[in-house]
This record gives sequence, structure tokens and C-alpha cells, in this order.
Amino acid sequence: MASDSASSTRRMTGIAELDDSHDAFIRMASRLSQAAATPMSADERDRLVPELLQDTISTVTQHFVAEERLMKSYGYRAQDPDGFSDHLEAHADFTAEVCRIVCAMEQFTEDSLAQLCRMLTDFSAAHSERHDLPFVRHVCASAMN
Ligand SMILES: [Fe+2]
Ligand SMILES: [Fe+2]
Repeated sequence: MASDSASSTRRMTGIAELDDSHDAFIRMASRLSQAAATPMSADERDRLVPELLQDTISTVTQHFVAEERLMKSYGYRAQDPDGFSDHLEAHADFTAEVCRIVCAMEQFTEDSLAQLCRMLTDFSAAHSERHDLPFVRHVCASAMN
């Protein structure tokens, strides 16, 4: 479940693409959580887990690409170059960590899925507060000018 700060960011921007992308990120964490809590046969695990891991990497990267495109289109890079580059670095670090964890897992268990779910929810809460909210404030300020 998303934290309050992550939830408060999710539909704050009024930019459908960004809000939808945050929703997809949180939905992915829920899918991982549900799968982790559902007993699976070996066959089910073999079928479902690779799909979940692929979808996790895809959801994370698609969200970051969409958000970074919007940051550029809203002039965030020019207005706050340090904030922009810190934000991109945080995205890159998290993407690398998710890929590292997925690639390092030799055997996928319910615990692995739960660990990934926690990574997504913890990241979402901390990252939203530190990086996404300043961008949202920039978008809101731009809309008032
Ligand atoms: Fe972000
Ligand atoms: Fe975001």
C-alpha cells in the first residue's frame, strides 16, 4: 500500500500522463504484494513470476521515461538544473537497483516478490517527497504564470 506522501503526489499534478504513470507504479507494487501473498504451485510460479518481473522493470522504466520527458517539456531542467539532475540520478539508481535485484535472484519465491514490492513502495514514498513534489510545485507555479 502506498504511503500518504506517495498517495498525495499521485494525482496532484493534473497532468493525466504523469498521474496515470504514478498509478501504474503503485498498481505494480500491489500486483507484487498480491502475488507474494498467494500460494502458487511450481507451474504457476514458473509462469507468473517472470511476467511479474518483466512488468516490474517495464513499469519502472516507463514511468521514469514519461516523467523525465515531462520535466523537460515543462522547462524544469532550465529552471532547476540541480534538482533536475538529482532527480534523474535517483531514477537511474533505482532502475539499476531493481535490475540488479531481479538479475541476482536465482530462485524466485514469494519473499522475492514481497521484497520487490517493498522496494517500490519505499521508493515511491521517499522519492515522491524529495524529487517528484518539487517538480509538481514547478508545474503548478508554471500554470499560475
Ligand atoms: Fe521521479
Ligand atoms: Fe514519479
